[in-house]
Amino acid sequence: ATITVLNGPNLNLLGVREPGLYGSKTLQDIQDSLEQQAGQLGHRLHFFQSNAEHAIIEQIHQAYAQGVDFIIINPAAFTHTSVAIRDALLATKIAFIEVHLSNVHAREAFRRHSYFSDIADGVICGLGARGYELALQAAHQILQERTQ
Ligand code: DQA
Repeated sequence: ATITVLNGPNLNLLGVREPGLYGSKTLQDIQDSLEQQAGQLGHRLHFFQSNAEHAIIEQIHQAYAQGVDFIIINPAAFTHTSVAIRDALLATKIAFIEVHLSNVHAREAFRRHSYFSDIADGVICGLGARGYELALQAAHQILQERTQ
């Protein structure tokens, strides 16, 4: 299957950005291990990061046009603000898992609300970069169940 991994604003700074919260791995490190994992599971992975809301929306539209089977998304700060990205996911009906490196429930109150959690297949937070790997594993199983 084809799986798109989307990352929102400031995640290009992973590794240097508040490593106590977000870990020392870079986004490239995360991409490399996900690509390896996807290859082993027999999936094609498309990885994308942007600091711009519209670029993430365009990627979701493109994913729909290209028949992408599943999305793993860390909307970063857009988690707490973006009705537009939520609407893109609702419009395209692509199943997705929401991932956060940090435990958003153990931080400022404004991070506890997500525009995505109620429409996500699942939500993973607080497990660092491992969260993406767990999401990919879960996506693999969800896709398998779908074809059974
Ligand atoms: C984040 C959590 C968000 O609250 C924050 O704005 C981010 C990263 C995370 O992965 O922990 O940029 O999505």
